[in-house]
Amino acid sequence: MKNLKIASIPGDGIGKEVVPAAIDVLKAVSDVHGGLQFDFTEFPYSCEYYLEHGDMMGEDGIDRLKEFDSIFLGAVGNVKLVPDHISLWGLLIKLRREFEQVINIRPAKMLSGVQSNLLNPKDFDLMVVRENSEGEYSSVGGRIFRDEDEIAIQNSIFSRKGTERAMRFAFELAAKRRGHVTSATKSNGIYHSMPFWDEIFKEVSKDYPSIQTDSQHIDALAAFFVTHPEKFDIIVASNLFGDVLTDIGAAIMGSVGIAPAANINVNGKYPSMFEPVHGSAPDIIGKGIANPIGQVWTAKMMLDHHGEEEIGSLLLDVVESITHDQIMTPDLGGKHSTIEVTDEIIKRLKEQV
Ligand code: NAD
Ligand code: IPM
Ligand code: MN
Repeated sequence: MKNLKIASIPGDGIGKEVVPAAIDVLKAVSDVHGGLQFDFTEFPYSCEYYLEHGDMMGEDGIDRLKEFDSIFLGAVGNVKLVPDHISLWGLLIKLRREFEQVINIRPAKMLSGVQSNLLNPKDFDLMVVRENSEGEYSSVGGRIFRDEDEIAIQNSIFSRKGTERAMRFAFELAAKRRGHVTSATKSNGIYHSMPFWDEIFKEVSKDYPSIQTDSQHIDALAAFFVTHPEKFDIIVASNLFGDVLTDIGAAIMGSVGIAPAANINVNGKYPSMFEPVHGSAPDIIGKGIANPIGQVWTAKMMLDHHGEEEIGSLLLDVVESITHDQIMTPDLGGKHSTIEVTDEIIKRLKEQV
């Protein structure tokens, strides 16, 4: 019997709605699997926690979470309570960095029955490998002068190690898929970091002669995601470019409510963290209509990560069978609630086995 110790952090907003839903699905996975058990421990880290404790996760947070096999997180952010840069740097970004989750894998593909936001989409199946620990997400810089002379300086940090690591990860993944890596660059406009990025991409690609490559400037690449998403296999991108591309990826899939993600600790020293692409969706909190599929698909990525690919792909098949039958929340044009979609996933999962 495999027993996985999972720390769950519903976080803010609809995280509190979709995480319990996906945990119910994972409990059903355990019921049908037989050889797999989950031991969930919930942590209340959130903006409300901050108001009470003056900290997003408490001083012992990292030490407590370190002991788990994985972290299952919903979303962080409630600007009515805490400014975003405080809450996100205090929890989500802190966890990614403390636990060296240096790679963020974000797949985007068409699910049966889901209407893309594109008019005539061709079938696509792509994966963004996002550098998750450095780049444009940096606290290095500052503000100087006052009033109309005020200046904000924001530095980007690209290490050779971190850049190369993201690229190698992308090439290894491409070797298991359709053998193509696209590099997201902007070396025409960004003077230091992006020529450096291109140079490393060229060097790394020499070690993978069987993988085809191309390099696209991020502006053109964003447009190609809309006009020709079927042309992509793996895209390797910096932290910010990967962030933006994956919301476009979610939009062409049909909704950000279905897009999954995995923050991977590649050296195996710390837990990886599974958290969908979307945020806390303040505009739909408490309405019971948050799409649970992003969180459930994210749970599938957690299953894959722990070597449970078989039940993981069964779970995604079940999700696709319900979108195929138009059992969907309003973001996908449906009329169903979070609970109805979740219950249907659980029911069909149990019927499958
Ligand atoms: P968002 O993803 O929360 O919302 C964008 C739009 O998508 C909204 O209209 C929302 O209703 C919709 N949406 C998102 N998830 C959905 C779901 N599961 N089902 C149906 N509709 C869904 O992005 P935002 O508005 O830019 O951010 C809101 C807050 O979340 C901010 O505080 C932001 O910083 C935070 N955020 C957190 C994360 C994270 O923790 N991983 C990610 C993105 C944004
Ligand atoms: C994401 C989010 C975060 C990011 C924010 C909330 C800091 O947008 O996970 O995609 O930019 O990494
Ligand atoms: Mn994002």
